[in-house]
Amino acid sequence: MITFQLSLGRLRPWREGDEDSLARHASNRRIWNNVRDFFPYPYTPRDAHSWVRSNKSYQQPNNLAIEIDGQAVGNIGFTIKDDIYRYNAEIGYWLSEDYWGQGIMSEAVPVMTDYIFKNFQVNRIFACVLDGNVGSMRVLEASGYRHESVHLKAAVKNNQYLDEHIFAMLRSEFRELNR
Ligand SMILES: CC(C)(COP(=O)(O)OP(=O)(O)OC[C@H]1O[C@@H](n2cnc3c(N)ncnc32)[C@H](O)[C@@H]1OP(=O)(O)O)[C@@H](O)C(=O)NCCC(=O)NCCS
Repeated sequence: MITFQLSLGRLRPWREGDEDSLARHASNRRIWNNVRDFFPYPYTPRDAHSWVRSNKSYQQPNNLAIEIDGQAVGNIGFTIKDDIYRYNAEIGYWLSEDYWGQGIMSEAVPVMTDYIFKNFQVNRIFACVLDGNVGSMRVLEASGYRHESVHLKAAVKNNQYLDEHIFAMLRSEFRELNR
């Protein structure tokens, strides 16, 4: 089973039994405010079941649970784009508010970046951050991502148009960072 140790926990595949903790930690408006609308709010036990069902038992999973104190309290993962964007992976993550500000995501993003570049045919990893999400921007910058562009008023959240910040890392930049 694929696992990555972190100082305060580990990244490991989602599994049955994670549902209660997932629903409890994910159901938070302050998380929802910074992610896509397909992320449920409130996050119900049924949502948790379907997440675990579709993400468990992959050989090389796209999503890994962030486990702290033996409980799944966040996710970090990626989706590979298609067509002419097929060498791009979009990275995404969230963490239970109980654990914010402890450096967990600053450790998890480099680990996930390494996992993607070493195991998948990807030439560019990018992240989309909604305006005002200072924590996520700091995590990406600390992980070696470049602030690439701002898409003015590209997103809508809570009936408000928001700028979207694109952060990216190319495989060549990843190699340079790890020389
Ligand atoms: C964004 C998020 C993933 C950060 O995770 P985290 O584990 O708390 O981040 P870290 O503790 O590694 O913090 C990284 C840096 O950001 C700073 N930071 C964290 N949250 C912050 C906030 N709300 N405001 C300002 N700075 C913040 C930390 O102080 C730290 O700064 P440093 O590098 O100078 O020490 C987490 O807050 C979260 O899940 N938010 C909701 C979902 C979300 O935004 N997902 C990302 C969508 S792009």
